[in-house]
Amino acid sequence: MSLTPAILFGSKNTSPAVTQTVGVSGTGKSFFLNRMLKATRVKDMGPLWRGVVFDIKHDGYADLVEGEKKFGVCTTYAQFVKSIKDNKITVIHPEIGESYDFLDEVIEHLFSLARRIEGFTATLVLEESNTYIGTHASAIPMQIKRLATQGRSLNLSLVLANQRSLSNKWTDTQSQRLILFRTAIPDHEMLKKKWGVCGVTLDKKLSEKKFSFAEFNLETLEVQFYEPIPGPNEGAFKGPTKSENVPVVGTDGQA
Ligand SMILES: Nc1ncnc2c1ncn2[C@@H]1O[C@H](COP(=O)(O)OP(=O)(O)O)[C@@H](O)[C@H]1O
Ligand SMILES: [Mg+2]
Repeated sequence: MSLTPAILFGSKNTSPAVTQTVGVSGTGKSFFLNRMLKATRVKDMGPLWRGVVFDIKHDGYADLVEGEKKFGVCTTYAQFVKSIKDNKITVIHPEIGESYDFLDEVIEHLFSLARRIEGFTATLVLEESNTYIGTHASAIPMQIKRLATQGRSLNLSLVLANQRSLSNKWTDTQSQRLILFRTAIPDHEMLKKKWGVCGVTLDKKLSEKKFSFAEFNLETLEVQFYEPIPGPNEGAFKGPTKSENVPVVGTDGQA
């Protein structure tokens, strides 16, 4: 099965609620998430699905909410509450000093909506999630833990974006898939150690085409490579196109 916006952002009661997006700076993570958010359709997600981007970098999503008659980027909790009522996509640019508390409030509000409104579902995209998530299970804010563990029963899901793969084992146990862009060398070793994926071979394949990426399904342990996401002027975009696979699971880097 190919990765589609509905698969990426949808939640299932039976699967972990978290997706991790990993890649060094400038490899296309935000572009990918932006285009996938834009490509979600009411037909697949339901009329009450909401995409919320919590973007501490203030970079790469504003176009989703800016323009005539659009709500614009939110910088306060009140704006977020108002925006999520009417808009499929909400983009938040928090100030760094306030981002912890703001994130807590956002997640709290998502739970409150999910409890009160029949059919409500949402995906929170958290940019630079290593800002909030440390190495140990105890170093994860309670609301993020709550979203990761209890979210799926309320159809809430979480997409994390990071320049390095999170070294937090607890987050891994809550993750359904990794979306891998070009990774840093320490991550090659991490991929090998944690999951038996040859990070060197994977990165070599990704280096052949700028902005290409791979999906590593942590439930099936399958790796699928994808072509770069087409730009906004390259026709209608419904979802990524698979590219030719190379074996990366269980190889020793000599492939
Ligand atoms: N598939 C793509 N096609 C064309 N340009 C892309 C693609 N992916 C990313 N870019 C461009 O490359 C730059 C870096 O991408 P970005 O998604 O911001 O990287 P990251 O979030 O991984 O740091 C941006 O200017 C973006 O528009
Ligand atoms: Mg980015």
